[in-house]
Amino acid sequence: MNRLTAAITAVGAYVPEYRLTNSILETMVDTNDEWITSRTGIKERRILKDPDKGTSYLAIEAAKDLIRKRNLDPAEIDLVILGTATPDLPVASTAVYVASEIGAVNAFAYDLQAACSNFLYGMSTAARYIESGRYKKVLLIGADKMSSIIDYTDRTTCIIFGDGAGAVLFEPSEEGLGLIDEYLRSDGTGRKFLQIEAGGSLMPPSEETVRNKKHYVFQDGKSVFKFAVSNMADVAAKIMERNSLSHEDVNWLVPHQANKRIIDATANRMGLDHSKVMMNIEKYGNTTSATLPLLLHDYEKQLNKRDNLVFAAFGGGFTWGSIYLKWAYNTK
Ligand code: UT7
Repeated sequence: MNRLTAAITAVGAYVPEYRLTNSILETMVDTNDEWITSRTGIKERRILKDPDKGTSYLAIEAAKDLIRKRNLDPAEIDLVILGTATPDLPVASTAVYVASEIGAVNAFAYDLQAACSNFLYGMSTAARYIESGRYKKVLLIGADKMSSIIDYTDRTTCIIFGDGAGAVLFEPSEEGLGLIDEYLRSDGTGRKFLQIEAGGSLMPPSEETVRNKKHYVFQDGKSVFKFAVSNMADVAAKIMERNSLSHEDVNWLVPHQANKRIIDATANRMGLDHSKVMMNIEKYGNTTSATLPLLLHDYEKQLNKRDNLVFAAFGGGFTWGSIYLKWAYNTK
């Protein structure tokens, strides 16, 4: 009997209406469109302006989009995993609230946190539940309201991040489609380069932490760039090598959207033509947990059954890795 594999069988997404363009940022901090475009590839990001809405709102809208498109009965969902670095609340998993709000009444749910690798690690986690044979429908969502943790007076971070959400459904495949191989890595010595210093158990919130802006994202961009550019390319090359994939065999690179220069370096290392590289960083910036499913959503119509997709991501922690997945359906 064939081994049960875990395939992506539906995609949904949501981004907020408001567009924070480079020209608007020019009025907020000392920056310019030319610098941002040449250093990152970003032109605009979406921002959830409503102060009463958190990450759950983005996640719910993305999940509803998937449910609508797929005509899915949410009561059939067994498990909801939400990758997020910006949960609604420090305690009380956002995924649990999302599951209830979308009508996944028979599901259990929890959050997963691996920064910008959330969705990649989440794919690995979701696939294991399916491959075990115990669960039939796992909804994986990546959602972040990055604007809630960004200091809009800090030009080194506020030009990069945006808000958004994407969702995929994992189901069993008996045709050998879906997740084929993964190579996931982490290195805790990297956490000093990309973090929020306060608000956790090491440095609980206080008047002083607020005054010193310790609740915002800090990034030593240059150091993170150095690690990201080599590690993302290494893992993608390794996945190709150990699955005997040539650049001709790979139909698509699905790279985390942190910086166009990192994506280009990864594609070059894989020997891939730019036409095979999914890219939408210019529209959304870095949406952390949502970059990979937003790419799948934007490129869904161009994907064919049995296409070979190589995912690659790098994020805070450090966390990084690559996944080889065979696409499971054609979109009419
Ligand atoms: O998704 C999680 C993983 N994160 C990443 O992969 C991000 C990795 N890092 C990066 O993408 C890049 O390091 C950044 C886009 C964050 C920065 O680009 P960079 O080419 O590494 O610039 P830099 O930090 O070396 O700064 C170069 C110069 C500096 O000025 P001096 O010291 O040379 O005079 C900065 O002060 O650019 C200056 N600068 C800016 N200038 C205009 C920094 N931010 C800005 C800005 N506008 N927004």
